[in-house]
Amino acid sequence: MIEALKQLKRSLLSALLRVKVRREARKAFRYDMRQFLAHAGALHLDRKAAARAEITMGYHVLEKGLTMPHRRLGFGKNAAVHLANLIGAFEMRFGADDAQVRHAVGVLRAYREMHKGSPMPRLDAFLAKHPDVPAAVQPHVTKAEFFAAKDAPFPQFASSRHVVRHFAKPVPRKVLEAALAIAATAPSACNRQHAHVHVFDDAALRDRLFALQGGTRGFGQDADKVLVVTADLSAVRWGWERHDCYVNGGIFVMNLCYALHYCGVAHCILHWSVSPETDRTAHALLGIPANEAIVQVIACGIPPDEFDIAASPRVPLCEIATWHGGKQ
Ligand SMILES: Cc1cc2nc3c(=O)[nH]c(=O)nc-3n(C[C@H](O)[C@H](O)[C@H](O)COP(=O)(O)O)c2cc1C
Repeated sequence: MIEALKQLKRSLLSALLRVKVRREARKAFRYDMRQFLAHAGALHLDRKAAARAEITMGYHVLEKGLTMPHRRLGFGKNAAVHLANLIGAFEMRFGADDAQVRHAVGVLRAYREMHKGSPMPRLDAFLAKHPDVPAAVQPHVTKAEFFAAKDAPFPQFASSRHVVRHFAKPVPRKVLEAALAIAATAPSACNRQHAHVHVFDDAALRDRLFALQGGTRGFGQDADKVLVVTADLSAVRWGWERHDCYVNGGIFVMNLCYALHYCGVAHCILHWSVSPETDRTAHALLGIPANEAIVQVIACGIPPDEFDIAASPRVPLCEIATWHGGKQ
């Protein structure tokens, strides 16, 4: 009798908890949606930060093109002119004193120099207005140089890590296992360790996944292994934890990237910003259970002896941190 009552109490409490979590989740996702609609850059391009993000994306596409293994001249012609227009509009509204925007001009100049033989009058006219900005340099490195900071102090090691879009050889399973063991040191909320890694080495599956993902043109076909990092929704306990798969998964991904770099594996992080239909298709294609949220895809391989990397300069420190309060 007492045991039955205890069981009833447990069932009631668990039903109440489910009602509470459902209510929290509805409120939280409504809040997220309103916040997104009120502030997402795509809907507010008149804001300086949003206009600058559009320019950064625009120069990044060209920068990638400049460093791609299978580069074909003439790539990104329209994108270059569009970028020049965006920069012109930005400078008129917000002024020309912005490090990212100046870098974008430098990328356009590098692009122009690579296409010396072709007439590009609109780009020439634009660059003539920015005579003080030199061509942006995309580093060319040897494999040995790229991994040289493996045992260096963390500031050097961290700044030596970059995504690589040049893959020449397969990654031995043992090396990948060593990297995954390091990645597993990532912290997680209440040590719940939400992250999971699915490793794929089938070329046909890779190509089908990359076709869904859309961010690997010009290099995806060389990737040896594809890591799909997921996070288990089963480890999420409250409605307020709605972002936990992506927060914990993201922390894991960063640790994994450092680990891959440490182990001499070239990696390229790939977004998973896809529609619900694509997400569902990928789950089915890859055999990933529905309770695992796909957080990130990572292409990897052993790089060739020499390759190019995109400069991807960082914004100055003063734009990263806001110091509240006056204490030193
Ligand atoms: C969340 C995320 C998504 C990304 N998606 C792509 C992608 O789809 N294709 C690609 O070539 N690079 C992608 N990248 C790589 C970034 O372009 C790169 O990390 C960034 O320019 C900084 O360069 P670095 O990693 O070499 O320092 C992605 C990076 C992150 C963090």
